[in-house]
Parts: sequence; structure tokens; C-alpha cells
Amino acid sequence: MRRAMAVFVTRRIPAEGLRVLAEAGGCRVQQWDSEEPVPRPQLLAGVAGKQGLLCLLSDRIDREVLDAAGPSLKVISTMSVGFDHLALDEIKKRGIRVGYTPDVLTDATAELSVALLLATCRRLPEAIEQVKNGGWTTWKPLWMCGYGLSNSTVGIIGLGRIGQAVARRLKPFGVKNFLYTGSHPKPESAAEFQAKFVPLTRLAEESDFVVVTCALTPDTQGMCNKDFFSRMKKTSVFINTSRGPVVNQEDLYDALVSGQIAAAGLDVTTPEPLPTDHPLLSLKNCVILPHVGSATYATRATMSVLAADNLLAGLRGERMPHELLL
Ligand code: DGY
Repeated sequence: MRRAMAVFVTRRIPAEGLRVLAEAGGCRVQQWDSEEPVPRPQLLAGVAGKQGLLCLLSDRIDREVLDAAGPSLKVISTMSVGFDHLALDEIKKRGIRVGYTPDVLTDATAELSVALLLATCRRLPEAIEQVKNGGWTTWKPLWMCGYGLSNSTVGIIGLGRIGQAVARRLKPFGVKNFLYTGSHPKPESAAEFQAKFVPLTRLAEESDFVVVTCALTPDTQGMCNKDFFSRMKKTSVFINTSRGPVVNQEDLYDALVSGQIAAAGLDVTTPEPLPTDHPLLSLKNCVILPHVGSATYATRATMSVLAADNLLAGLRGERMPHELLL
């Protein structure tokens, strides 16, 4: 980098990532140094005239932001594997390169998906609450029963990196069959689990556990809706660790209240954060986490380093470690 490049970082991120930017030299960093999201006016002001933007999944990078940045903006690096918050058409039109952080969060997110699945199907939050509130009076044969993975059928929506890592972790629990759905069959990925590619409707009908790990796209938005839930078994458990809008939450609420499905575990919702008076939070058979799939110290540090490396490579006109090809 010959001239100093100006970059805007939209949040407090792990020190490891900032260190990469600081040590690169020739990089002037302006940062919204807070745990809370940058307010829109400060985002628009912060990005103005910058060459690089390091953002998070909670920052909506749309035409307004790109206009505010102006023609100097060359690279957007998001510290996330998901990129549904980026207006890709508009970004592409302006010739801006995009970096993202796949792979490095796969294990952490798969681990959390399994934790959420087990917490949901074995009713752990409810059981913990019973211990605290005196509901645990004795050992009762019919009390606090849930559903186990042994001999079950697990249906994975989106057998990508994270979907495969979830299947790999669930297999040793004695899962009998894996089903998956997506835009096309992936025989090589599926072979390890002898997973069968099926239409979404069949996956809903036959799965004891449905795990959603697909990306949010126009095709997947609202995909898990009334029709989907009405096909699921009354004893089935639904898990979503991808993006909230893949699910129609009103339909999910109805399915949970009416007993159409047994339970749901969500690490992602619409909106985020979910208002504390949201109807889903009143349900015992719905376990909700605050989008913590990738939240291990090591993973977040690695994500920040990768986001910084992507940004620097883009600013230097070099190959990025992980570029989203538009
Ligand atoms: C992502 O990176 O897109 C995850 O949702 C959070 O780590």
C-alpha cells in the first residue's frame, strides 16, 4: 500500500483483528468502538471517503451506505459467513470487492447447533427452571420427558459446511437416517452420512429433527412456513441456526402452541434482538438463544483476523483469503 488507506470498522471487535490492521502500516483506522451497533448517521458519516469497510452481520450495507462512502470505497469485509446484510447487486455494480469469513466458524456453529438441539429435545431450560422453582418434588416416571436422537431421522436443510459439521457431530448419537434438501444434490458431501437428498416436503414429513443451516436467500426466505410445519410430525423438533427470516415465525408459533410440532430451538430470529414480550418467549417448548452460534473466544478472534486479512488484501489489490465472488 503506497498511500495510507482509510478504513472504517463498525464495532469493537477482538483485539487480534485490530492488531492485524494496526501492524499492517499504511492503514488509517476509524472505529465505532462500542459493543452496541453504530447508529445509522454515524455509519453514514464514518464510511464517507473510506477505501475499506469492516462490518458485521448487523450492519445493513445498502445503497445509502454505498452512496455515503462514495467512489473511494474499494473493499467491504464482513466479519461473518453470512452476507444477506449486504446489497450485493449494488456492490457489484460499483466494482467493490467483498470478503467474508467462512470455514473458521463452522465447528463452533455446529457445536452450538447440537447443544441447542439437545437442550430443546431434552427440555433442559425447563428442567433447570424446575430445580430452581421447587417443581422438582421427587423422581417421576412421566415427568420432563423429551425426545432422543437414538434411531432417529435427522433432516438438514442446507448441507453446506455447517450442515455437514452438524451431521458429523450427530451421527455418534445413533441417528439412523440423514435426509437433506437444498438447491441441488451434493453426493460427495452426503456420502459420509449416507444422507438422502429429498424435497423439502418429504424432509418435513419424515424427520424427527429438522436442522436449518442454509443461507438466507430469496429462495429460502420464509421457507419454513405453515405448510412446512403442518407436514412435520407432532413429535418432531425444529432447530434453526442459520438466519431468522428462513422461518415464518407466526406459523412457527401456531405450530408450537397447537402441538403440531413438539418443540423448537432458535439461535436466530426476526428481528434480532427479539423483543422480550415476543409471543415465542412465552412458550415452554421454544428455546431461544441470542445468535451465539460462533461465540467462542477463539472463533471470534479468528473471524476478526480473517476479516482484517481480507480487508488488507483487497486494499492492496491482492487475492483475499476468502473473497465472495460476485
Ligand atoms: C455468521 O457469521 O454469519 C454467523 O451468523 C455469526 O457468526
